[in-house]
Amino acid sequence: MPQRSKRFAILSERDVNRDSYIQEWPDAGLIMMHSPHDPTPSLRVEGDEIVELDGRTKDEFDMIDRFIAAYSIDRRVAFRAMGMDSLDLARMMVDIRVSRQDLVALFCGVTPAKLVDIVSHLNVVEMMMAVQKLRVRKTTANQAHVTNRKEHPALLAADAAEAALRGFAEEETTVAVARSAPFNSLAILVGSQTGRGGVLTQCSIEEAINLQLAMKGLTSYAETLSVYGTDSTFIDGDDTPWSKSLLAAAYAARGVKTRFTSGTGSEALMGHSEGKSMLYLEARCLMLVRGAGSQGVQNGSISCIALPESLPGGVKGVLAENLMATMLGLEVASGNDAMASHSDIRKTAKLMLQFLPGTDFITSGYSSMPKEDNLFGGGDFDAEDLDDWNVVQRDMQVDGGITPVTEAEVIRVRDRAARAIQVVYAGLDFPPITDAEVAAATYGHASEDMPDRDKVADLAAAEAFLHGPETVVNVIKVLAQSGFTDVAERVLDMQKQRIAGDYLQPSAILTDAFHALSGINDPNDYAGPGTGYRVVGARWEQLKNIPQAKPPDEVVRPSAAAQRPWTFRAKGPASVGTDPREVVIAVGPAFGTTITETLSGIPHETILRELMAGVEEEGLIPRVVKVFQTSDCGFIGHHGAQVSGSGIAVGMQSKGTILITRNDLAPLNNLELFSMSPNLTAESYRTIGRNAARYAKHKPVVPVPSIIDNMARLKYIVKTTLMHRKETECVRSDAPAREMDVEFGGR
Ligand code: 5AD
Ligand code: CA
Repeated sequence: MPQRSKRFAILSERDVNRDSYIQEWPDAGLIMMHSPHDPTPSLRVEGDEIVELDGRTKDEFDMIDRFIAAYSIDRRVAFRAMGMDSLDLARMMVDIRVSRQDLVALFCGVTPAKLVDIVSHLNVVEMMMAVQKLRVRKTTANQAHVTNRKEHPALLAADAAEAALRGFAEEETTVAVARSAPFNSLAILVGSQTGRGGVLTQCSIEEAINLQLAMKGLTSYAETLSVYGTDSTFIDGDDTPWSKSLLAAAYAARGVKTRFTSGTGSEALMGHSEGKSMLYLEARCLMLVRGAGSQGVQNGSISCIALPESLPGGVKGVLAENLMATMLGLEVASGNDAMASHSDIRKTAKLMLQFLPGTDFITSGYSSMPKEDNLFGGGDFDAEDLDDWNVVQRDMQVDGGITPVTEAEVIRVRDRAARAIQVVYAGLDFPPITDAEVAAATYGHASEDMPDRDKVADLAAAEAFLHGPETVVNVIKVLAQSGFTDVAERVLDMQKQRIAGDYLQPSAILTDAFHALSGINDPNDYAGPGTGYRVVGARWEQLKNIPQAKPPDEVVRPSAAAQRPWTFRAKGPASVGTDPREVVIAVGPAFGTTITETLSGIPHETILRELMAGVEEEGLIPRVVKVFQTSDCGFIGHHGAQVSGSGIAVGMQSKGTILITRNDLAPLNNLELFSMSPNLTAESYRTIGRNAARYAKHKPVVPVPSIIDNMARLKYIVKTTLMHRKETECVRSDAPAREMDVEFGGR
């Protein structure tokens, strides 16, 4: 066995190396773009009929070709669009003088291979520019997953309420056991409307049940209408483009918002790629979605994300698929839902491709609870990443669709949501939810914090509810009669929306006042700098005011220990000392007065006590001098050394930065410097006093070992800045250094 490099051994243990990587293999569909088996774009129309599509003639069409030829290509622009150079079309996407409307109109006339050909000319930054311009809705939003392993109704309701408060526009649940579907849907409906009115909800479940849930008024949108890019994958799933279209129409006819799901990798994963590239097959899917008349799609590989991530250009390709959806005018919920990597760096890098340009829904399922409770197989980002998300929004002035909230607000809505579902269960004779369960859901984090329920009884009641005559109307009645009229009204408002149908418009979400915000009344009007969605005004106030951001004066408020009385008084001007046994301790202008403790909270009294004791231990005499002319540590020490009988001085800023210097050294030179004051303890100050005395005695000195703390600057830079500003305000350039009278207080 050859000797291993320690560096490579450490690298091999890194998170990024726990992901899978594979070389391209086109025949198995393991290639993101440009498979040798991908067709070149072509289109031939005879009369009103498409007779050739991407190299295949009418008689060679498969099921998907037939559907696309019949429904997906706008013949009015097809001739013109197909005749244009793909590179020119790609450039138009990043040209601010070409409008979104004109581009989408043109792109509705292209074939799948042409769509791929156009995006293949863009690098990721250009794709992001294109997504910024082409997405449907101006205002960005986000979708949450709300599930838990125990399928606990109180926890579901509480998590749904919190997610609503945090600003998610849509919430999606699913099941561990299929029979739970009606109860899980009910819990997130009641919970979400408790947190904030107008949140759309869905349950990812088998299509017939899904439609039933919607008809009972328990859900308001559906997005699990999967389509695939090859016939055999479709047939494996017992479906055709026509059956999916019919289903989409059934939802829409009942006022349920609908989007399809597609995404790269599914065909290869199911063994039916026909050797085509993932992106080409996705282009076919998107044309199907458009042909079926859906307003939008959830794509970005979704459940298959690890597969494109294993390939070269995979993450770029996933952005390309989101972009292709926008090119066809489809609302896009842009993935970032399933776990994409072991590596936080890699996950975040990938996220930025959708987060920065903004999409209709940045994630198509942010795990609003911890990953362990995510029944979609874990989420790429979860409840424990919420603050990271909020901070990145604030860092970049970007709206990722999540609003910072306070702990108190969250506890309030979680409690109320858990109580609301409790009264619904009581009112409809479902197995009761106890007060202990309400409390656990209010203050808990995950399933493990919840008491177990009688699963058999819950499932039986859920099944009876699904097949019984009761609907959301009974739920509304119970809420209204039990002191939850506000929640009842909002749940009722969600039903009214189904009749009004405004949220069936492209890319619609509802505001908390139940106004639809869609591609119709909130169209993306990006046309370069100064246009489009900008995070300004009230929204910017919300995003920048994270609860962790403290008022500046709070950062430098002294601790109680540093407010104890002691004597630290200025006497006359400091004279030049003559006693060679004397070591000067020179302190900054705010020391012991305006500022009374160091950066890390050691009281100035303690610091001086230790320094003086250190000098005395070596048999020398400490003399304390306060410098007013500067707040610079080097110059404080330099001034001190000039009046020191031994020529040795310790110079210290009030924040605790300290050095030892000598009167013949240049102001910015020194014997020892301790620039990271948080690394210093009371004991270190004593050693510094001792060392200073030993320099004065011309004895050998072992410099105090320096500690490297990579995080010190990160932790303290704000406080450092504020303390230094305070000290600098005390500088008086005309005031001479003063002799100080020091008397320590009692312990
Ligand atoms: N293509 C098509 N459908 C997908 N789904 C997930 N990923 C894909 C994909 N790449 C569907 C699943 C399930 C839901 C989570 O989305 O079939 O219904
Ligand atoms: Ca989703």
